[in-house]
Amino acid sequence: MTAPDDLVADLQAILDRSAPPGTGAACRRIDRDDAAMLLDAEAAVLTTAVPAARRASGAARTAARRLLARFAAAEDPILRTPAGAPVWPTGFVGSLAHDDTVAIAVVGRSEVAAGLGVDVEPAEPLPADVADLVVLPGDVVADPTDPLSSRLVFVAKEAVYKAVHPLCGLVLDWPDITVDLVAGRAVTATGHVAELFVTRAPRLVAMARVAPNGG
Ligand SMILES: CC(C)(COP(=O)(O)OP(=O)(O)OC[C@H]1O[C@@H](n2cnc3c(N)ncnc32)[C@H](O)[C@@H]1OP(=O)(O)O)[C@@H](O)C(=O)NCCC(=O)NCCS
Repeated sequence: MTAPDDLVADLQAILDRSAPPGTGAACRRIDRDDAAMLLDAEAAVLTTAVPAARRASGAARTAARRLLARFAAAEDPILRTPAGAPVWPTGFVGSLAHDDTVAIAVVGRSEVAAGLGVDVEPAEPLPADVADLVVLPGDVVADPTDPLSSRLVFVAKEAVYKAVHPLCGLVLDWPDITVDLVAGRAVTATGHVAELFVTRAPRLVAMARVAPNGG
């Protein structure tokens, strides 16, 4: 089993290679004290009181701040819309994701993306009943016999949702997003097109980029 520090180092190396061009992606191990990494304004807008969720949000925002500093962006708090989407400094877009162990952020300037999304999932097969809801006719996977193929579709659709929801304000369901993991592309029922950047070790991570012209 990969120790958390190794996992984060491995994941960061993969994110450095696979982030959408012109964007940055960073990960951070979720530490016991990471709720304290939330700025006061961020802590105030989080709706959850669950300590693990607040730690994960603090870790994700810490990773995002690292990226924003790289872009010399203002150190504004990363607040949330009522729908839960992160609010980025003017001129930037981005996305956050976390599991029990790691938090991931992807950030870029608005000139390179109208929307960015990221999702992380364990590299484990999806239960069959969930897979039946997620993977639909029209979705294309590289190898249908790959036990991870359904969860790759899952992680890709969630990343696309996070990139597109802030643009349209609509809740999309699984059939509203069609992914082609061979072409690295997704289309939504709202007419948005996203490029996909999917990795599978040590976690399944998908990043989605909607181009500034909407696709
Ligand atoms: C957004 C959603 C996909 C997040 O998934 P999750 O597995 O609960 O949580 P993740 O760790 O992957 O991501 C959490 C982050 O998503 C981001 N997020 C939440 N709602 C969002 C939205 N509407 N748009 C963009 N990003 C959003 C937040 O930054 C959040 O981090 P924070 O709580 O620290 O601020 C999910 O909660 C949701 O709203 N689903 C409804 C739509 C849906 O599931 N459709 C079918 C799949 S496409």
